[in-house]
Amino acid sequence: GKVAVMFGGRSAEREVSLRSGQAVLDALLSVGVNAHGFDPAERNLHELVEQEFSRVLIMLHGRGGEDGSLQGALQQLNIPYTGTGVLGSALCMDKIRSKQIWQSLGMPTANYEIADKRDFDGTTCDAIMARLGNLVMVKPAQEGSSIGMAKVSNAQQLAAAVQHAFEYDDKVLLEQFIQGSEYTVSLLNNAALPSISMSTPRDFYDYEAKYQSNSTEYFCPSGLSQEQESTLAKLAIDAFDAVSGSGWGRIDFMQDMQGKFYLLEANTVPGMTQKSLVPLAAKQAGLSFAELSLAVLATAD
Ligand code: DAL
Ligand code: MG
Repeated sequence: GKVAVMFGGRSAEREVSLRSGQAVLDALLSVGVNAHGFDPAERNLHELVEQEFSRVLIMLHGRGGEDGSLQGALQQLNIPYTGTGVLGSALCMDKIRSKQIWQSLGMPTANYEIADKRDFDGTTCDAIMARLGNLVMVKPAQEGSSIGMAKVSNAQQLAAAVQHAFEYDDKVLLEQFIQGSEYTVSLLNNAALPSISMSTPRDFYDYEAKYQSNSTEYFCPSGLSQEQESTLAKLAIDAFDAVSGSGWGRIDFMQDMQGKFYLLEANTVPGMTQKSLVPLAAKQAGLSFAELSLAVLATAD
């Protein structure tokens, strides 16, 4: 049947989604899938029914595509879609909610506090810095691609970063910065692909480091020992399961100087651009971009 590759959308990650979606659409066409691009910012979802699409490959990042609302609408329209369902999509879109679940299950995640736009008081920033340590990551609860994020080292910066993050979300996660290295584990059908480590000369792995910079380094294999690799893989699989993730996804971690891993977040529609991580991990596992795209499509049921 006809496959709709949904990309674009209206979230702050639209540009990233356009790149991910176009790459996946091209790959599916190259292997003979009857695939068509579908941008929900330009078309009505009912066209999916009218034009008799039999499946949707969701390649929308961020709110409106990755947060469960589209998943719910497709379920109402009786159209199978790729990846995680309504509950897991909503949970994973919210970095605070997913952390709370991992924490309640005893899974490792960095110390944090929550800033709520309704009652945030800038005068508490000194106390927050004292509790969380000298470096704090400020993250809108529901964003992707590091949009609206900042790394701060004093109360004044914290107050400014929180106000900036409030432009993206009414809830902001304030997280102890784990000094060390960043890792990511891609998941496909409940199995972990080889981990990747990332290194950037920038302050942290931000939007520019992710999509624009040529100085970001990616290591895959990541250099972990076999034992650490399987510890990390198991943690990724368990963490994704805990937040009701399914089909495919990517879990991001920090590793501190002592070698301990901390869960950062789960992505239910991870990037599939030329610079993205899941395609790199898949390649290391012997899967071409087209094979990966077909495997993602096969998660629609
Ligand atoms: N949110 C971006 C697309 C990612 O996780 O890759
Ligand atoms: Mg993300």
